[in-house]
Amino acid sequence: MRRLALCLAAASCGGDPGATEAQRYLTDPAFRRAELVASLTTADNDYARLRLARYDSADARDWSLRPVWNPPAAPLVPANAPLRALELPGSTDRASLLSLGEAAFSRYPAMLASTTVEATLRAPGAAARYGFWTSPDGQVGGLLRVALADGTVGLAYSCATCHRAPDAEGNAVAGLANGALDLGALGADSNPTIPPAEEARLRRWGPGRVDVTTDDGREPVAIPDLRAVREQSHLQRSGAVRRRSLSALAIRIETLLITSHHEAVRPPREVALGLALYLDSLADSLPAPHVDHPGAAVFAARCGRCHAPPTWGGGLVAADEVGTDPALARSPTRGTGSYRVPSLRGVGARRWLLHDGSVEGLDALLDPARLRDDYPGTRGVAAIPGHVFGLDLPASERSALRAFLSAM
Ligand code: HEC
Ligand code: HEC
Repeated sequence: MRRLALCLAAASCGGDPGATEAQRYLTDPAFRRAELVASLTTADNDYARLRLARYDSADARDWSLRPVWNPPAAPLVPANAPLRALELPGSTDRASLLSLGEAAFSRYPAMLASTTVEATLRAPGAAARYGFWTSPDGQVGGLLRVALADGTVGLAYSCATCHRAPDAEGNAVAGLANGALDLGALGADSNPTIPPAEEARLRRWGPGRVDVTTDDGREPVAIPDLRAVREQSHLQRSGAVRRRSLSALAIRIETLLITSHHEAVRPPREVALGLALYLDSLADSLPAPHVDHPGAAVFAARCGRCHAPPTWGGGLVAADEVGTDPALARSPTRGTGSYRVPSLRGVGARRWLLHDGSVEGLDALLDPARLRDDYPGTRGVAAIPGHVFGLDLPASERSALRAFLSAM
């Protein structure tokens, strides 16, 4: 009651209504908590329960009590470059946060690699074999050297390890999923005492898929295309997070960085917010769909009710209705019963499609033969069920649709 009375007297309590969203996210726990709650599609999965228990929950396990971590780090190449922490801007204007976010995308340690993984990667040619990209300036897969608390230097992945890839012309594209990255094989090869069942699970991921949620790797999902983040109504394949505001995205990124470091540390909030602003800006690089293309009419008739312009995506569709493998939608860790309708902006450049990356490329997605048990898919000979939309169209209309989508 005392607190409430003070709040009524002081406009700043519970947030200054005149403050920008960025300022409120950075300074106002009540605002952040409210944004988190409003962004949860359901409170009934492990991911939501953990966040409700720890995110500005004002109890002893509150993540905001964890130390802020901004460690000295540097890309692998050149090997003698000094390790430096990200420079946090003194002001919170959009331009400063955006450039911090761009730097953090390839310079902030998102996840530490184990020392055995590090040893595997040191072998000549290993990084390329597991699908880490190399850029013209010699950078390798967004890998970082990081100064750790115990005085050693560790190896870390950055966002760019998974979320950056070369396009067909070989240019690095920030946000595009690295469809070649095979972290399952890397993990299996780096652990000589791995139990056979676990090894089989990791090897089944194949390129372009990662399980960033479960401890035993049973739920790999295709790395998503972050260039379309601004256009998605929901985040994560199962749509567990409503992408209702910039803060909802920043809080999602904060959560990812806290859980990937085992809840021991948290990132500076400016870094999470900068990353959110940066990811939102990536859609500016996407081509505008050619709405006068012959395939556009086919799309409008068959696809537009779910993939609706101007985002070319939509809300949630029950797993039974879309008919793809329902395991992730029903997962106790992050399921919602549904899959989100992904924005198709930029889809022409994506290698793996659908939540589990079961389909390689648009030709396969639109090929009616994939519904047959003897279909020779990239991930094995088996039917790829579900998302049957458009498969009954005459070949000429399917190829018009294909051409329309490739240019998106
Ligand atoms: C080891 C690979 C990996 C790394 C490193 C990684 N991500 Fe991801 N990211 C994924 C996967 C896999 C998903 C899909 C998760 C899901 O759908 O449940 C994902 C999902 C996301 C999403 C939701 C996008 C959408 O369309 O639903 C955002 C936002 C995101 N990542 C941002 C980041 C940022 C920012 C970083 C760096 C701080 C990062 N990721 C680091 C693999 C990675
Ligand atoms: C009933 C709603 C619905 C209709 C109609 C629909 N889609 Fe989808 N689409 C979805 C959902 C939901 C997903 C995600 C499914 C999953 O991840 O398992 C999806 C995924 C996709 C993907 C994969 C994108 C990616 O990045 O993984 C493409 C491509 C696609 N749809 C194209 C089309 C086309 C082309 C049509 C029309 C022929 C169409 N869709 C009709 C709901 C729909």
